[in-house]
Amino acid sequence: MKKTFLIIVSVLLVGLLTVGCSTSNSDNNNNNNNNNNNNQEELREFTLEELAQYNGKDGNPAYVAVNGKVYDVTDVPAWRGGSHQGEVVAGIDATTFISRSPHGTSVLNGLKIVGTLK
Ligand code: HEM
Repeated sequence: MKKTFLIIVSVLLVGLLTVGCSTSNSDNNNNNNNNNNNNQEELREFTLEELAQYNGKDGNPAYVAVNGKVYDVTDVPAWRGGSHQGEVVAGIDATTFISRSPHGTSVLNGLKIVGTLK
């Protein structure tokens, strides 16, 4: 009787330890995967035609290309509705526009890069 009790307790302990270890391992794996995604996210290549769909209108995101990189300006208040200062719109290669803007390319540092321009 005592022996049976000891066997049951041992089996329970081993079971608990296994569950505990595998849970923390999968947590670590998840964290690693997230980090990898952040660091090595594949950048999409946009043609000018594809970029034109991201014009910030009708619920579309607003993307703008500058010097071969595509930036997400969807949540930038100054780009609301995909239009900026009445001078430039989203969905285009705006490299020439930014060179004659008051702020220059420094504003690009705060923006998320979503791809490159083909
Ligand atoms: C002739 C073209 C442009 C003009 C005259 C212009 C002008 C301005 C002005 C006056 C602001 C300040 C707006 C405010 O504080 O509400 C601004 C902000 C901004 N502009 Fe432009 N811009 C031009 C082109 C561009 C381009 C091509 C980009 C490319 C992404 C850009 C990105 C931004 C961003 C991200 C901000 C917000 C900066 C912040 O709030 O920190 N601009 N622009």
